[in-house]
Amino acid sequence: MSDLYNKSLITTQDWEKEWLDEVLALAKEMKKHRYEKPYTEILKDRTFLMFFYNPSVRTRQSFEAAATELGGHAQFLQPKTMRLKSKGKAGETIEDAANVMGRYAVGLGIRILEDAIEEYGAGDALLREYAKYGSIPVVSMAHDKYHPCQGLSDLMGLQEHIGDVKGKKITMMWGYSSMVRSWSSVQEDILLLPRYGMNFTLTYPEGFDLDPEVIKEAKKNAEKAGATFEITHDRFEAVKGADAIYARNWMSPFRYIIGKEEEKKLALKYKDWRLTKELYALTNNAYFIHPMPIDRGNEVDDEVASGPRSIIYDIAENRLHVQKAIMALTMAKNWR
Ligand code: CP
Repeated sequence: MSDLYNKSLITTQDWEKEWLDEVLALAKEMKKHRYEKPYTEILKDRTFLMFFYNPSVRTRQSFEAAATELGGHAQFLQPKTMRLKSKGKAGETIEDAANVMGRYAVGLGIRILEDAIEEYGAGDALLREYAKYGSIPVVSMAHDKYHPCQGLSDLMGLQEHIGDVKGKKITMMWGYSSMVRSWSSVQEDILLLPRYGMNFTLTYPEGFDLDPEVIKEAKKNAEKAGATFEITHDRFEAVKGADAIYARNWMSPFRYIIGKEEEKKLALKYKDWRLTKELYALTNNAYFIHPMPIDRGNEVDDEVASGPRSIIYDIAENRLHVQKAIMALTMAKNWR
């Protein structure tokens, strides 16, 4: 067993695969023995702090429930109600804030993406600065680059339904939406799933490229695991034979240059990029995954999102178990 105490989790790419295996194994045990000791006492009398710069349904609820089920408490904080230093505004430094928080709590979760930042990478930099100065682990609750808890929950759901995912094909498809969504969840899966040997096909309209550094790392991950990694702008080819399919909107690399309204206009040109039931029929009876919230009727047809192979609710539930496992391993000592 590895010692993961006090380790921050900003992306799964920063963690050894065997550490991720330990999280998944523990999450599955916790799912089976949800309200049993020792799990109900791991964070007894302990506090987990949560900074939400953006709205959330699943992440807030599942982290709060996770802290409760581990015997502790999650404190919800909105940075706008705090006196933190930000661009052009005087206030407390991250160094001071992080040092003080470590005196009260055992862990800190941060969500920062989309409208809360002015340029891609700013959210990731903020998380890494809290991790550098604080004495407690920092967990990403979704930021502009990554969403590790979502990635691990997606993988856990696929393992539960498929078994060993090695050699299985997953297609990730850009879906139309005016939501102008971040790269966090998609980039996490692009890195993580090939590490477990999934053959990855990424399909999107020209111009909607993701972070080239992430793509480079994902290709390396796939090669190391003996898997393939392909990019195509032909969605009809891309979905053929897929064992799992993921259709979600993401922003173009121009989002923070042209602004949100122009970005919406750009996406409008590709309104037909929807995972329709006809497109889905080309897959190998694929499991449908999505981190949610889903833009139904735009990203994907209802018949697919609510179809018999949709595992979106299992994955949403897994957020709770995965986060409990991460919190237990990084924020508590000597409970095993
Ligand atoms: N998947 C996810 O992070 O959902 P929320 O935005 O609702 O937290």
